[in-house]
Amino acid sequence: MTTATIHQYVPKSTQKNYEMPIRHMDFQFDARELDDTFFRNTELASAYFEALSIFLTFGEDLVIDTARYHRQFVKDPELKRLVTALIGQEAIHSKMHNEFNDVLAKHRFPVGLYRFLADKVFEHGFKKLSNRMQLSLMAGIEHFTAVLAEYMMKHEDIFYESMDEKQRALWMWHMLEESEHKDVAYDVFQELSGDYALRMRGFVLAAFTIVFLIPVAASAIPVIRKPRNLISLRYWKDVRRSLALLAGPKEGVYGSTIKHILDYARRDFHPSDHDTSAYLEYYKEKLLHPETGLLTPYMTKEFVPGKRA
Ligand SMILES: [Fe+2]
Ligand SMILES: [Fe+2]
Repeated sequence: MTTATIHQYVPKSTQKNYEMPIRHMDFQFDARELDDTFFRNTELASAYFEALSIFLTFGEDLVIDTARYHRQFVKDPELKRLVTALIGQEAIHSKMHNEFNDVLAKHRFPVGLYRFLADKVFEHGFKKLSNRMQLSLMAGIEHFTAVLAEYMMKHEDIFYESMDEKQRALWMWHMLEESEHKDVAYDVFQELSGDYALRMRGFVLAAFTIVFLIPVAASAIPVIRKPRNLISLRYWKDVRRSLALLAGPKEGVYGSTIKHILDYARRDFHPSDHDTSAYLEYYKEKLLHPETGLLTPYMTKEFVPGKRA
C-alpha cells in the first residue's frame, strides 16, 4: 500500500459532528413470519434483496478487513475513530443478515449454495486483489449502499407494503446506518490514495457485483422455489414488474438513481454532496424513539466508540 500523501486531504466525515453509534440488535427471526415477497409484493425483486442479503455479509466482511488493515495508516485521529465505528456497524450488519439468511434457508432458498458461490467469488476474486484495490472496492461498495439507503429512506412506504415487521426493521436499521457512515470509506480512500483511476476501478467492480452478478444469481430463486413459475403467465408479469422496480427509470431502485450512482465518477465527488441529514434525523426519531421506535424492541445495546467526554 502506498501511503505517500501528495495532498492534504481534509476528511469531510470528521466535520459533521455526527455520532455513529454501534447498535447491537437481536431480531429473533422466525421462518413463519418471513415474507418472500417483502419488496413490493414481488417474487423476483424480493429474491434480489434476499440474494443481496447473502452477498452483503461477504461484502461487509471485506469492508471490515479492509478498514481494519488501513486504519493503521489513517493520520486523522477523528477519522480513525469513525473507521472503528464503521467496522462496528458493519460487523453487526453481517451478523444480523447471517441470522436472517439462516431463516431464509427454511424458505426454499438454497442459502448453502449461495454462500458457497459468494465465498468463491470473494476468496478467489476480491480477496486476491491488492490492498489498494480492496480499499477502492470498499469505497465503491459503500457508494452503492449509500445510494440504496437514500432511495429507501426517500421511499418509506415500500417498507410498509408487507406485514413482515422484522424484515422491515432489519432493512430500515441497515439503511439508516449505511447512510450514517456513507462517507467514511470514501474519506479513508481519499486520505490514503486519492488515485482517481483506481477509485473508478473499484466503482466498476462494485457496480458489476451489485447490478449484474447479484441480479443474475437472484433470477434463479423464484424458479428454484416454484419450478412451475417458468410456465406461469402471472410469474412473467412479476418479472416485468420486478425489473421495472429495480431498473426502471421512473421508480427503479437503480434506474431512478442512475445520476446519483454515476455522480461517483465526478473527480470532486464526495458522498456528503448528497445531503441525507434530514432523513437521518427523521429516521432516528422514527426508529429509535425509546417508546415508539420500530427498532426499540430489538436493540439490546448502543455505544459510540472512543467518544470523548
Ligand atoms: Fe452494512
Ligand atoms: Fe456500509
